[in-house]
Order: sequence, then structure tokens, then C-alpha cells
Amino acid sequence: METKVMIPDQASLSLAASLLKDGRLVAFPTETVYGLGANALDRNAVLSVFAAKGRPADNPLIVHIYDRAQLPDLCTVQEKAVPLMDSFWPGPLTILFEKSEKVPDEVTAGLSTVAIRMPSHPVAIDLLKVSGLPVAAPSANSSGRPSPTTASHVFEDMNGKIPLILDGGSCEVGLESTVLDLCHGQPTILRPGGITKEMLESVLHENIMLAGSVLRPLAPDEKALSPGMRYKHYAPRASVTLVDGAESDVLALLPRLYEHEIAHGQKACVLCFTEHLPLLQNCDPHALGSKASPEEVARRLFSALRMLDEEGMDSVFSEVLPPEGMGLAVMNRLGRAAAFRIVHA
Ligand code: TXA
Ligand code: MG
Repeated sequence: METKVMIPDQASLSLAASLLKDGRLVAFPTETVYGLGANALDRNAVLSVFAAKGRPADNPLIVHIYDRAQLPDLCTVQEKAVPLMDSFWPGPLTILFEKSEKVPDEVTAGLSTVAIRMPSHPVAIDLLKVSGLPVAAPSANSSGRPSPTTASHVFEDMNGKIPLILDGGSCEVGLESTVLDLCHGQPTILRPGGITKEMLESVLHENIMLAGSVLRPLAPDEKALSPGMRYKHYAPRASVTLVDGAESDVLALLPRLYEHEIAHGQKACVLCFTEHLPLLQNCDPHALGSKASPEEVARRLFSALRMLDEEGMDSVFSEVLPPEGMGLAVMNRLGRAAAFRIVHA
């Protein structure tokens, strides 16, 4: 199959909408990462999303809408969700709702809840409006690869597998949406993202829990609150190790770890904050962004992880951020890329 990459305009958007109506897949930009969209009400279309990504069938998809008037068809809205939707939609917040009969089990992997979000990216909104459909869309990467934040990342993974990619440039947030569970007791963040725990708490006025697996691996006998947390994810082919501790100790240890790998014939590099580039000149440093801006690090992280593969890295050592605000989402993705391997300096 030929995969077209098109700049979004009236013609490409109407082509995209008619492909979706025909049960085909379209990759499109959102403010978080690119999504691989299918008509959420068409079982076969949804099944082809799993096939294109190589995604395990038990990992449910997020349904995207452009108007809250679409909700009653898809789910029951709990009261607590209302102030959150008022504050953070459209935007990078996904909320779980009890699903309606209409939502196929293929979307929710058999769960009774459906994850829904209203993206803010103008191209995503236009596509949803023109098609008039609820669109089920996981990130548009092959399963296990870092999520795509540019159309060329999508092309790397999906060339030949889907008919169309809408190229809307780089994604502003760069990490996937926050997934919030309001259906099972105390509100719980299943996946941290663009809307931080602090922002959610300021609206709900109660403590929000973090799923156990956000900053550590799932124990072998532990049930995943979100099926996606079970899988190896965001991982480049290189082995990634996080280095934490006092900044001066980290900056002293990184060159030693790097040199040890080089001495053993490995291709190695360091992921560091822009401020530390001059200090790590001899360690093939790759900048993650400024330490003062977790938002910048978030925006650049997945590109940086893909770059490691392109350069054929074997071993990568990375600085870490405090797990607060956007730093929590960054550390969740970096932690999983590193299979939670951490060295304390
Ligand atoms: O920012 C985003 O959320 C992007 C863009 C395209 O919108 N989408 C995205 O989708 O990241 P995906 O499929 O890569 O991640 C969806 C996550 C998975 O971890 C999945 O397990 C979880 O949401 N999820 C979906 N439905 C769920 C449900 N009913 N219960 C628990 N977790 C759910
Ligand atoms: Mg994904």
C-alpha cells in the first residue's frame, strides 16, 4: 500500500474523513503525539489499528471527540468529570467513563470503561468535525517504539501499512495525554502526561493517587490498572540507564560510565540537560532540553530516543528530573525506556 503524506487542507481533510468512513486508517497530529485513527464504532477498522501497530489485543484505545455532545452516545458521564472537562478539554487529558453498548469491545479490550479525550490540535479537531465520527486512536508508532511527535516518525513506523498521514509539524506537548481513572474509587492517574497531578488536584480539591507502576516496574503478580503499563514501551534498542543523585555527583559519574562502555567496544552516549553540554563534551552528549523546562524536555524526549536508534547506540546514560509537574510524565517515559534501571551517583 502506498502511504501518502499530506499537508492538512480542505482537500486532504476531506480525503482523510472519507477514508475513516470507509473503515481505513489515518494518522493525524494532536497536541501530544500523532494518533493512528479509525472509526471507533467500526470493529473491523479498530482491529486493523491493532494489526498496523502490532499492538496486543488486550491494550485498549482512546476515543477522540470534538464535542461533548458526542459523550451520551459513548458513555455515562460521572459528575466528577464535569469540572475537569470544563478546565482541561480540549487538551491532553483522557478520562475513563463507563462505556455504552455502542462502543465495540475491540476498542476497550473487553473492559467496561472507555477512555475518551478531546484533543486541542486544530488539525485533529478539523478531522473529527469533518468526519463527524468518534475516532479511536492510539499513538501512531509500532508497538514498543517511542511515540511519534513528527509525521516522519509516523512514516518510519507506518510506511506501507496505512493510506494517509496528515503532516501537521511537531507536536507541542510531545508526550501522551494524562490518563485519569474516576471509575474505581479514589481518582487515580494511570499515565501521567500533559495535564499534571497538581493541575488536576487544583480543580478536584482532593488527593489524586498515582498508579503504582508509574515510577517502577509492575510486580510479576500485580494487576495493571491500565493494560498499557504491562508492556515494554517507549524503548529504544539501546540499553538506557538513568543516573540520579546530587547534580555534581551525577556529572562526575556520567563520564566514568561512558568511558567504561567505550573501553568495552560499545557505542555509547549521554543524554543530558542543555546546561551540562559543555561539561560532558567527551561523552557524545545529546541534549534533552533545559533542566529549568521540563516542558521542553517532554517535547524533545521521544525524538531523542528515536535518534539513539538511528545512531546505533548500544548504551545510553541519562540525567533525570524531579518527578513533579511535567517532570513526572518525563520520568515515567524515561523510566520505562530504561526498564527502570537506575544508578545512584
Ligand atoms: O495523547 C494521547 O493519549 C495519544 C493521542 C494520539 O491522543 N494517544 C495515546 O494512545 O497515547 P495509546 O493507545 O498509545 O495509549 C492509551 C493508554 C494505554 O496505556 C491504555 O492501556 C490506556 O490508555 N487505556 C485506554 N483505555 C483504557 C481503559 N478503558 N482502562 C484503562 N486504561 C486504558
Ligand atoms: Mg502508545
